[in-house]
Amino acid sequence: MNGVRGTKATRSHTPKRPKVDLTMYAKHRAQVSVEGLSKRYISGEDRVQVLDNLSFTVPASESLAIVGRSGSGKSTLLNLLCGLEHADTGKVILAGQEFEATQPTEVLRPRWAQLRRQAIGVVFQEANLMPAMTLAENVQLRASLAGQSSGDDIRWLELLGVGAEANRYPDQVSGGQRQRAALAMVFAMKPALILADEPTGSLDLHTADDVADRLFEVQRQTGCTLLLATHDPSLAGRCHHQLNLGGG
Ligand SMILES: Nc1ncnc2c1ncn2[C@@H]1O[C@H](COP(=O)(O)OP(=O)(O)OP(=O)(O)O)[C@@H](O)[C@H]1O
Ligand SMILES: [Mg+2]
Repeated sequence: MNGVRGTKATRSHTPKRPKVDLTMYAKHRAQVSVEGLSKRYISGEDRVQVLDNLSFTVPASESLAIVGRSGSGKSTLLNLLCGLEHADTGKVILAGQEFEATQPTEVLRPRWAQLRRQAIGVVFQEANLMPAMTLAENVQLRASLAGQSSGDDIRWLELLGVGAEANRYPDQVSGGQRQRAALAMVFAMKPALILADEPTGSLDLHTADDVADRLFEVQRQTGCTLLLATHDPSLAGRCHHQLNLGGG
């Protein structure tokens, strides 16, 4: 771990907290911490210890690059940070709100879903767009789900160089264009935290540079916290901190 403030892992019992006040969350900058996070997958006879007692803190409005070889657990960590998976041990603390990462996903699912809708912008490795909606309609929908006024949808697409494709459907554009539209959707929701899984992974070098410029520009302007997984050393080098999950 390079530059990330490590915290000593503890297994102390956490008292139950009231539900997250999302209005407050959205207005506040989000520090992100994990404490003692472990995750193991069991498939058949195989046991894969993906994360082992991981602890770190990313101060609000700063950025962290999660790096490491393919299979080292980058996507798994991002999924744990937005409640799409649960851990074997540990907790996640977002803007001061504690989430026992070990609880069954079913218990936390509505709480996490609400956070993802309003405060956490997630860009997956495969862009998740509604196939029956144009790129512009996808951006508009994402913004309105987060309670943001619509009307800026084309601007976000233009910022990412896909304004000309605004009225096309996801299956009428390239993978890289879909990925940029997915990023436009996240920008439009004005989240406190962006989790991006290889956001420039399917782009050529020039476009990747351009998209990275936009990403850091939006991050600086909005003060959101940014955690991204990447294999690209130059993208990782632009983040405030790096977390190497091993093997690379
Ligand atoms: N649902 C699952 N069941 C079993 N094993 C899984 C599951 N999901 C992930 N894994 C395993 O966990 C490990 C970490 O996977 P993960 O997708 O987090 O890696 P990654 O660092 O994102 O890799 P890449 O750079 O290729 O995207 C891998 O060995 C993977 O095979
Ligand atoms: Mg991955």
